[in-house]
Amino acid sequence: MQRTSSELLNFIFLRIGEIATSDGDTKLHKLSEMARDIVFADRCTIWICDKAHNVLWTKVSHGVGHIIIKPDNGLVGVAIQSKNPLIVNEVYTDHRFNTDIDKQTGYMTKTMMVIPMKDAQGQVTGAIQVINKKDDADFTAEDLTHLNLATTYVTESIRSMLLLQEIDATQKELINIMSMVAEKRSKETGEHIQRVAAYTKLLATLYGMDEAEATLLSEASPMHDVGKIAIPDKIIQKPGSLNPQEWEVMKTHAVLGYNMLKNSKRKLLQTAAIIAHEHHERYDGTGYPRGLAGEEIHIYGRIVALADVFDALNSKRVYKDAWKLDEIFLHLEKQKAKQFDPELVDLLLSNKEKFVNIQDKVHA
Ligand SMILES: [Fe+2]
Ligand SMILES: [Fe+2]
Repeated sequence: MQRTSSELLNFIFLRIGEIATSDGDTKLHKLSEMARDIVFADRCTIWICDKAHNVLWTKVSHGVGHIIIKPDNGLVGVAIQSKNPLIVNEVYTDHRFNTDIDKQTGYMTKTMMVIPMKDAQGQVTGAIQVINKKDDADFTAEDLTHLNLATTYVTESIRSMLLLQEIDATQKELINIMSMVAEKRSKETGEHIQRVAAYTKLLATLYGMDEAEATLLSEASPMHDVGKIAIPDKIIQKPGSLNPQEWEVMKTHAVLGYNMLKNSKRKLLQTAAIIAHEHHERYDGTGYPRGLAGEEIHIYGRIVALADVFDALNSKRVYKDAWKLDEIFLHLEKQKAKQFDPELVDLLLSNKEKFVNIQDKVHA
């Protein structure tokens, strides 16, 4: 079972074209199909080395689901430890073969080929495994060369995917740190920003935003008071109430936060910039900093404004007790079309239990 050179070339061009236009997990699935089909195998599994937990896990697999094994387990482990590819054509005669997965899945492995994936520094990051060449044939050295080609593409895709995940995680971590600093300065608790994020997500979803946008908004919401980082200590830490001049300075936190974030090209930070800027605008136009009214206020600003105040009323602060729930709901009703978007208030009031559940889950 072999292809002629021109058949092979056609196969590769066709698949690479499809793969280039997909991304993320779809891309990896297509790559694993290419790896499987290029060598006429029945199954292909992409294994990832998780060095932090000292395990190997399946990223993409045909027919075996999500499996976690020790990094020296079975023939995949052998290839990874030795950093060399291997072909075994009668796995049950090889004592290094781990029969557990076959036992779990009821599948019968006969032939196997494994190629370790390496990063730019030569460190092994995972492996590609193909199982059972069609028609009970054996895998050959030529198959190994072909599988190597597929492996190069998989390695590249995983590398850029992990890099993107890393950037994403770093960004979220920085946002959390900055938000915590801002909240600490304004004597809020960490739980406040967690609850605001959860209320924001719920409101966004009830409003009809899709999962991706609701998540984006919720992840950006902790930044609403980030501008408070730049408010002078003597104002932000003043124990009593602020005089009118001090209050004016305090109000600049909305623009300060906006200015910190507005030049970022990243969607998350752009969203955070809108929230920082507009979370003190009021629906009737009497808010700050720009006195926007109604739908002039971005929906992100309107949502976080309600989530933020709902939590503030609900929480005990140094200067006040938490309001009773009935009082809060009455207050929100009265503030419809004054402080808040009436549609959002209605959504909150008709889903009270869901909001109260969040409050119960994240205690102050
Ligand atoms: Fe604020
Ligand atoms: Fe807040």
